[in-house]
Amino acid sequence: MDFRGKWVLVTGASSGLGREMARQLALEHGANLVVSARRAQKLEELKAELEPKGTQVAVVTGDMAKADDVDRVLAEATKGRPLYGAILNAGVSHFGHHHEMPWNDFLSMLQLNVTANVRMATELVAHMKQHKLGGGIMLISSLTGMMPVPYQSAYSGTKAFLNSFGTALAHELEGQPVSMTVFAPGGIQTEMTSGERFATLRGWLAPADVTARAALRAMQKREHLAVPGFLNQLGVFAFRFVPRRFAMGQLAANYRKALLAAGVKE
Ligand SMILES: NC(=O)c1ccc[n+]([C@@H]2O[C@H](COP(=O)([O-])OP(=O)(O)OC[C@H]3O[C@@H](n4cnc5c(N)ncnc54)[C@H](OP(=O)(O)O)[C@@H]3O)[C@@H](O)[C@H]2O)c1
Repeated sequence: MDFRGKWVLVTGASSGLGREMARQLALEHGANLVVSARRAQKLEELKAELEPKGTQVAVVTGDMAKADDVDRVLAEATKGRPLYGAILNAGVSHFGHHHEMPWNDFLSMLQLNVTANVRMATELVAHMKQHKLGGGIMLISSLTGMMPVPYQSAYSGTKAFLNSFGTALAHELEGQPVSMTVFAPGGIQTEMTSGERFATLRGWLAPADVTARAALRAMQKREHLAVPGFLNQLGVFAFRFVPRRFAMGQLAANYRKALLAAGVKE
């Protein structure tokens, strides 16, 4: 896949992994960008950084937890602009006891992490098939989608959905002028993991630029499902053989310790 001079949509481009992938697409791959998120100012700052370096950047703001905004973002992103690539990256997590998660936050997470991505992927497959540019779509999932993760119960459920949906769709699209890649990274240093609850886990988090580079490589190679990093890959491999209850018990103990250290009560 060659992004040079082509339009690529990146959702969740106002911070973290999305912002890094957008920067690398522009500066290292010569792509033009449609960047989307809720915070207009952050997106305008990215545009101001990249446009003087020769990248065309279109800013489309929207709250992907709202179905109407998803359709509007899609319409504005594609209007008069055939997309070669789309990276569906926007997402939220909840790290803590599931029962402390407000119900409305769960509904927003489901809409953003799952429904918005399925809606966008569905429309974008049709858009890309119609324009026959030969590009692809990448869903940013998570290692937490490869196994049930205690204290991220709802989040890991949304990511398990993306892994299943995305890899199934990848097979449906074999031989079509559009590919689907699911990228499932482990922990990354971003706003998502910047809170007190991650304080004792920071040593495990990968830099966002390194993870972004691995993601773009996987998309370019049209991989169906990519997990970056040797330790993450080892974890996924080991999970197949170690009794599930034991492995999840270890994860739970580790995260319980991190939450207790952050003052979160049982
Ligand atoms: N950080 C990790 O450890 C980790 C590990 C594995 C996978 N991931 C996945 O990587 C992706 C990017 O996360 P990140 O770590 O880079 O986190 P981040 O820094 O918090 O970025 C999240 C992005 O999503 C956007 N977003 C959040 N809610 C939105 C909404 N309702 N509508 C539209 N956009 C919204 C945010 O923009 P606005 O706030 O401006 O809307 C932001 O640009 C997510 O899908 C996440 O699940 C992260």
